[in-house]
Amino acid sequence: MDPADFYTGIVAELYAPLKSFSQDPEPYAAFVQRAGMPALELGCGDGDPLLELRRRGLEVEGVDSSADMLDRLRRRADEQGIRATVFHQRMEALKLPRRYRAIFLAGPTFTLLPDDDAALAALRGIRAHLAEGGTALVPLFTPAPTPAEQIGRVRTAAAPDGAELRVSVVAEQRDETARTQTTLLRYERHHASDSSVVERPWILHWYTRDQFEKLATTAGLTVTAVTDPDGTPAPASDTGLLHFRLQAG
Ligand SMILES: C[S@@+](CC[C@H](N)C(=O)[O-])C[C@H]1O[C@@H](n2cnc3c(N)ncnc32)[C@H](O)[C@@H]1O
Repeated sequence: MDPADFYTGIVAELYAPLKSFSQDPEPYAAFVQRAGMPALELGCGDGDPLLELRRRGLEVEGVDSSADMLDRLRRRADEQGIRATVFHQRMEALKLPRRYRAIFLAGPTFTLLPDDDAALAALRGIRAHLAEGGTALVPLFTPAPTPAEQIGRVRTAAAPDGAELRVSVVAEQRDETARTQTTLLRYERHHASDSSVVERPWILHWYTRDQFEKLATTAGLTVTAVTDPDGTPAPASDTGLLHFRLQAG
C-alpha cells in the first residue's frame, strides 16, 4: 500500500472515533492571520482544524490524499453549515489552480512522507504554490518508539452504529539511518456477527534541523524561523514538536 493511502477505508472510518486528541486550532489561526490569505492546509483529513478556521471566516482551502477522509470533511462541513474547498491530491504531486499566502500542515503530518525524495517533491510543490511574499509552516517531530508494554494493547471506541472499534500496535521497526519508523497497526470493527480486521504499516520519517533545512534549500525555500507551537524561538537542543517557517528564496 502507498503510504499516502494509509487513511482510507476502515482507517478513515475509525479515525474520528479513535482519535485521542484534536489539533489546537489557535497556532494555525494565528499563522494564517499573520501570513495572509488565501491559505492552504496540506493533509487536512476530516477537517481539524480546517473547519474551525473556516468557521472563523478565514479563507483556507485543503488538500488530502484520502478521498474517504475528504468525504468525511464534506459531511461535517454540511452538518455545520460551513463551505469548504478541498482537493484530492498528494502533497508530493501538488497541482492547484491558485497560489497561497499561507501554506501549512497542522501537526506533524509531513512526517507521513516516507522518505527524503517524497519530502523534497512536497517542498517543491509548496514553493510552486506560494504567492509572492507567502509563508509556509511545517510542524516536525522525531517520533519516540512505542514503549514495549504498549505493543498489543488495544484501544476501543464505539461507532455511531454501535459497532466496537479497536486499534492496536502489532509490531514496530525503527531504522535510525533511514530515519524511519514502521508501526504495524491492526484495526478492527466488530458488529454482531460481522467482523473486519485490517493490518497496515504506518510509516513515519523524520529529519534533523540541518537535514530539513537542506531539503528546503534544494526546493528553493529558506527556513526563516524555528519555534515551539506557541511561537517561542526553539533552541537547537529542543526535540519536541517544532514549527518550521519557510519562505521562497
Ligand atoms: C493524522 S491525519 C491528520 C488530519 C487532520 N489534520 C487532523 O488533525 O485530524 C493525516 C492526514 O494526512 C493525509 N495524508 C497522508 N499522506 C499524505 C500525502 N502524501 N498527501 C496528502 N495528504 C496526505 C492523510 O490522508 C490524513 O488525512
